[in-house]
Amino acid sequence: MTLEQVKVIKLPKFLDKRGNLSFIEEENHIPFKIQRTYWIYDVPGGEARGGHAYKENEEFIVALSGSFDVILDDGKEKKTFSLNRSYYGLYVPKGLWRQMENFSTNSLALILASTPYNPSDYIYDYSTFKNMKL
Ligand code: TYD
Repeated sequence: MTLEQVKVIKLPKFLDKRGNLSFIEEENHIPFKIQRTYWIYDVPGGEARGGHAYKENEEFIVALSGSFDVILDDGKEKKTFSLNRSYYGLYVPKGLWRQMENFSTNSLALILASTPYNPSDYIYDYSTFKNMKL
């Protein structure tokens, strides 16, 4: 996949005096069926997450609280997406190298994934990633 398939998606947002509400529907706001949800929190200052690619898994990443950066790389170019609003998310197709960093204090990253957890879907070696046609 290339960085052109990456999408920043604005989610519905209902504002009223009681506060805000946003939501996500599979195959509507995001282009896949959700098979797994996980979240990353209590990240110590300066730590990075990710640093790998998936062969099949697609993801949608939302900064539910605070902010962080997602760095995506298709083997040719790299792009940094700063997430800091709970009504925007980043669609990450399969086959991209991804890293998450610059987590603010108390940030909360919600990740919706298209596949169940499968360790053999991960590519941890950058040169293997570069040499694979994903
Ligand atoms: P890891 O994939 O290394 O996290 P990140 O990509 O954010 O750096 O996952 C950390 C640990 O959690 C690892 O031991 C595998 C486990 N894990 C699951 O069991 N299920 C999951 O859905 C995920 C994402 C991770």
